[in-house]
Amino acid sequence: MKQMGSKLHIVILAAGIGKRMKSSRPKVLHELAGKPMLSHVVESAQALQPYRVCVVIGHGGEQIIDRFGSNDLIWVEQKPQLGTGHALLQALPELDEEGATLVLYGDVPLVRVETLSKLVQAGSGDKYAILTTALENPYGYGRIIRNEDTRAIKCIVEEKDATEAQRLVNEINTGIMYIPNRKLHIWLPKLNNDNAQKEYYLTDLIKMAVAENIPIVSAQPDYNWEILGVNSRAQMAELERIYQKENASKLLEDGVTLYDPSRIDIRGQLRCGSDVEIDVNCLFEGHVQLGNSVKIKANCVLKNVTVADGTVIQPFSHIENSAIGANCRIGPYSRIRPNTNLNDNVHIGNFVEIKQSVIAEGSKVNHLSYIGDTVMGSSVNVGAGTITCNYDGAHKHQTIIEDNVFIGSDTQLVAPVKISRGTTIGAGSTITKDTPENELTLSRAKQVTLTGWKRPSKQK
Ligand code: UD1
Ligand code: CA
Repeated sequence: MKQMGSKLHIVILAAGIGKRMKSSRPKVLHELAGKPMLSHVVESAQALQPYRVCVVIGHGGEQIIDRFGSNDLIWVEQKPQLGTGHALLQALPELDEEGATLVLYGDVPLVRVETLSKLVQAGSGDKYAILTTALENPYGYGRIIRNEDTRAIKCIVEEKDATEAQRLVNEINTGIMYIPNRKLHIWLPKLNNDNAQKEYYLTDLIKMAVAENIPIVSAQPDYNWEILGVNSRAQMAELERIYQKENASKLLEDGVTLYDPSRIDIRGQLRCGSDVEIDVNCLFEGHVQLGNSVKIKANCVLKNVTVADGTVIQPFSHIENSAIGANCRIGPYSRIRPNTNLNDNVHIGNFVEIKQSVIAEGSKVNHLSYIGDTVMGSSVNVGAGTITCNYDGAHKHQTIIEDNVFIGSDTQLVAPVKISRGTTIGAGSTITKDTPENELTLSRAKQVTLTGWKRPSKQK
């Protein structure tokens, strides 16, 4: 997005206390879709490629700075909090005379970049631009008061200062506005708090603009949910649902099958190839990429995972920081922990845990096993209940299982150990030494039968 002429400054107001959240955490750090509300606003701000982004902080300011680090943001402190106009006044030294300022709110996280650029466009050429919208129930919002004949904006009145007649107006101030900096330098210091709330109202700038014949324009968001703010946990939950529903709609539009669009949660980014199917109650975190024709069955959690074409993840599987090859079959009830890399056609079955392991093509670990710190070749069959004993209480050790190995059920592989290609391990073995290629190796007491042995029975 090219900024026409003037430098785009963005000031995000985030100093409010957020009393109704009943939390020791500052409101803007509460998470929407897995990241702080303020992150959503900062990301939308940065998408506009602004010259400068300032964040006005007050309550819990240190916690906010800690959470964000430097991140190209300019932190401005507002203490005490005397109103939205007073908040912007604190940022005034950061606002270059040539520029214009877009005012955003740390607790209004869903506003779309498209809407913001529409507002900035509307305000180009030193106009004063306000984002307004019509609400069925405008209660609590500042009302946009227009000239009855020309429809020109005259002022904004806050709910608490409004007359009966003004309260009937349903065009409201979203709070988001775009103002030439040259004017801010003149107007902001002149604000007073002569109103019902004894606050310095940002909205009073409108009267000053009117008095100077500065053109005032408005733009509207495409959706009213964009302008919703968060003051309570209930509103937070409501916005979360809106956000998730929007994500789900985009996936459907992109050709993904969702068995129920109201039962998917994305906390991060989900990219899908063609003909992907996602069953109910799946959670995607971080960056997840699903190849063509991938099926994710019900109740799976995937975090920072890539899944190649044709793979099916059966219900209740949990996969994190891993790469899954093509045409694999995972689950149900599989747990794949970080740094695992599965090649194509691998099968991981129920109650199997894999950690930090590489498994080559066509190998199978189908039942009740733990495979950790392992490099496994291709076409290996790991029997039920096999465990790699990778931890000696102090250190982790590696297990190497070469191609075409067959491991009998209930085997322990005590690492470090190498199972050479073609090895067969007899069921119930505890293997502590490397095995020779293509031989049967087992470690197991010989089976004996005690003929005539009787079970003990209770004495009468
Ligand atoms: C404000 C607008 C109102 C608009 C509404 C939209 C004013 C005077 N009124 O009212 O017209 O309809 O938003 O939600 O601007 N903040 C600070 N420092 C302060 C005060 C507020 O950083 O000293 C921040 C808050 O953290 C909050 C935002 O500004 O994120 C809005 O403040 P709030 O006091 O809730 O304004 P409203 O009364 O809702
Ligand atoms: Ca508010």
